[in-house]
Amino acid sequence: MELRDLSDHVEYRAGRGIEEVARELGRDPSEFVKLSSNENPHGPSPKAAVAIREAATEVHRYPKAVHADLTAALAGKWGVTDEQVWLANGGDGALDYLARATLDPDDEVLVPSPGFTYYGMSARFHHGGVSEYAIEEGPEGFEMTPEAVLDAYDGERVVYLTSPHNPTGARFTLDEVEAVADETDEDTLVVVDEAYGEFADAPSAVSLLDERDGTDEQSSSSNHASRDDVAVLRTFSKAYGLAGTRLGYAVVPESWADAYARVQTPFAASVVACKAGLAALDDDEHVEKTTESVEWGREHLHEELDARTYESHGNFVLADVGDAASVTEATKREGVLVRDCTSFGLPEHVRVTVGTREETEHAVEVLNEVLAE
Ligand SMILES: Cc1ncc(COP(=O)(O)O)c(C=O)c1O
Repeated sequence: MELRDLSDHVEYRAGRGIEEVARELGRDPSEFVKLSSNENPHGPSPKAAVAIREAATEVHRYPKAVHADLTAALAGKWGVTDEQVWLANGGDGALDYLARATLDPDDEVLVPSPGFTYYGMSARFHHGGVSEYAIEEGPEGFEMTPEAVLDAYDGERVVYLTSPHNPTGARFTLDEVEAVADETDEDTLVVVDEAYGEFADAPSAVSLLDERDGTDEQSSSSNHASRDDVAVLRTFSKAYGLAGTRLGYAVVPESWADAYARVQTPFAASVVACKAGLAALDDDEHVEKTTESVEWGREHLHEELDARTYESHGNFVLADVGDAASVTEATKREGVLVRDCTSFGLPEHVRVTVGTREETEHAVEVLNEVLAE
């Protein structure tokens, strides 16, 4: 038998792990600092780590009650109904659910370039086509504007806005998100990917959705109209430090929320992930520690790195180093892994995840030495 035609499908290439790189170079993993995958350098929420250990004795059961508990906790956090929270195996899984719920064969989606590869991958899995809008570099940095999106828009079924954007660090304001949603067709869904939302000093686009009255700190204060054409993606992978558990979710409009039961893979998030997520939600201290260190680290990178950097609202900073491939090779030999953005279509740029204070300082020193060569 033959597989379906996968020639249009692109491979997802995750940043390489420390062990892999250490093995390749015949060195000890402890000699490396990994600042290439936008992970949390402070580890998981300690409360989540305890919950994960405790969950070990429960993994023979399917995650039914705990799935419902986490959904309810998230619904409470955002001031939406439980049906509006679509738990998934990472934010990536939530993107798949949104594609399943919206795309008919040959529908098109509009994705940012540069941008997160999985939007296009997910659309292609669901027999959709992919068009791009450009985020161009200008004198002020990367220009991520509603105009850039709308100029490229041609009736696509789904438009992806990444805010804060990976890898540039730029973000859309809520007015800009609304401008895109207003100007696109009624049948176009605007997916606002807030994987890095906790690092931005800005309200979530959840405030644009149909919402229940007043439970929530972040969404009820909004004056924006309720919409049925915006969905928001969030993840536990970044600020909560749970990338390895694969836990994320979409918050969707109330009017089409019952679709979840029709599109979800049964038991979309594991017992371990759900327990960890519940505990992490209750661990403000860890999120605060993480976001404070990101603020410090972004500032440090902007001020001390001998390269053009860009304002970032994420837990990383993009830098123009001239030749990203050779710079990442050179820093790798010095034990610092940063992301070569060639695969994003930015061969002159590297993306540096903010590490612990020590890691970030060390990365800046090593990068500056390499850049001075
Ligand atoms: C922009 C963006 N969206 C979504 C994700 C997906 O995150 P996860 O599947 O780990 O929740 C990532 C991961 O790096 C990302 O950078």
